[in-house]
Amino acid sequence: MDELLEWRKEFPILENTVYMISHSLGAMPRRVYDRLREYADVWASRGIRAWEEGWWEMPVTTGNLLARIIGARPGEVVMHQNVSVGVALVLSCFDFTGRRNKIVYTDMEFPSVMYVCEAFSGYGARSEVVASEDGLSVPMEKILAAIDEETQVVVISHVFFKSAAIVDPKPIVERAHEVGAKVLLDAYQSVGTVPIDVKELDVDFLVGGSVKWLCGGPGAGYLYVRPDLWSQLEPKVTGWMAHARPFAFEIGPIEYARDIRRFLHGSPHIPALYAAQSGYEIIAEVGVDKIRQKSIRQTSRLIELAEERGYRVNTPRDPHARGGTVAIDVPHAQAVAAELNRRDVLVDYRPGAGIRLAPHFYTKDEELELAIREIEAILETKAYERHLAAG
Ligand SMILES: Cc1ncc(COP(=O)(O)O)c(C=O)c1O
Repeated sequence: MDELLEWRKEFPILENTVYMISHSLGAMPRRVYDRLREYADVWASRGIRAWEEGWWEMPVTTGNLLARIIGARPGEVVMHQNVSVGVALVLSCFDFTGRRNKIVYTDMEFPSVMYVCEAFSGYGARSEVVASEDGLSVPMEKILAAIDEETQVVVISHVFFKSAAIVDPKPIVERAHEVGAKVLLDAYQSVGTVPIDVKELDVDFLVGGSVKWLCGGPGAGYLYVRPDLWSQLEPKVTGWMAHARPFAFEIGPIEYARDIRRFLHGSPHIPALYAAQSGYEIIAEVGVDKIRQKSIRQTSRLIELAEERGYRVNTPRDPHARGGTVAIDVPHAQAVAAELNRRDVLVDYRPGAGIRLAPHFYTKDEELELAIREIEAILETKAYERHLAAG
């Protein structure tokens, strides 16, 4: 008996689809309907008073719910709209005009993160991009060798988005700290499916978002900053919420808040925060350790089923080296993925990876077989052709 399947009734879309896309958009919890209605009711009935009755604090109170999942303490996480803003805000804390001007990242990072890193060349930053040799992962020795006394920040994924390979952040953090550099961990593809503890890792910054494994929907990214760094960091991406006394409306340069609020900027994205909380509550209640156990079992089974049919698997075979996604490459993979979606087997396609499939805690074992059997049937009957024709 899989007790986690009890949660299925909480996710309406599971009634009529095989939902294998939680690495991209986690299923919506039913209780989001209530939370978004609550948001509208509060706005309608409390009006301007809503700000002091909870809205103003929501980037921090929502961050507190997330903090439990990453091993942070209350008051150490703030909410942003997405990872790109979080990365820009963190990089804007540094001075890249001196000798220590290097940003180290790998060519397996999510492109949006790379774009932000590269944009800082306009402020003197120099990137060192560590290349993958196999498209799956990046050799640890190469990453460590790139980190030196000229490194300001290392920006690295905990789980690579394309291959689901897990990166061990520990040696990276140790090496960075040895030479006086900081580490910004992009944990989007791990939080909610691979356990993580920011205190144990001693990581300086962590960013991620809610769209995927956290089932929190779009518009809610999070930023953890190691508390002992707060007083040294003055983000240039800023705004009145980061001020020590925002309601004094003081003119001139900002005086930063002394707590995590110094990493905020302008007015927050309240509706997205209402929606995101439901996912965080559920993931915390289910427990990431349990989710991980099931994910290892189900992703192993998916790989087995794919290999039985001779499909190429672009994801590490070692379960401890991979996150929650399995990438399977077959001929015409993009068109096959489109046909799967048409048949209510929800997946996605990424160039260089293939069809990405991700079971989550709510997935039934038989759905794994069903997804692979559909791929087989689509290939056999050439049902992908209609999508080739459509371009
Ligand atoms: C590892 C990783 N980082 C970042 C993102 C997205 O960044 P943003 O929140 O800025 O859209 C994704 C996926 O969308 C991702 O997989």
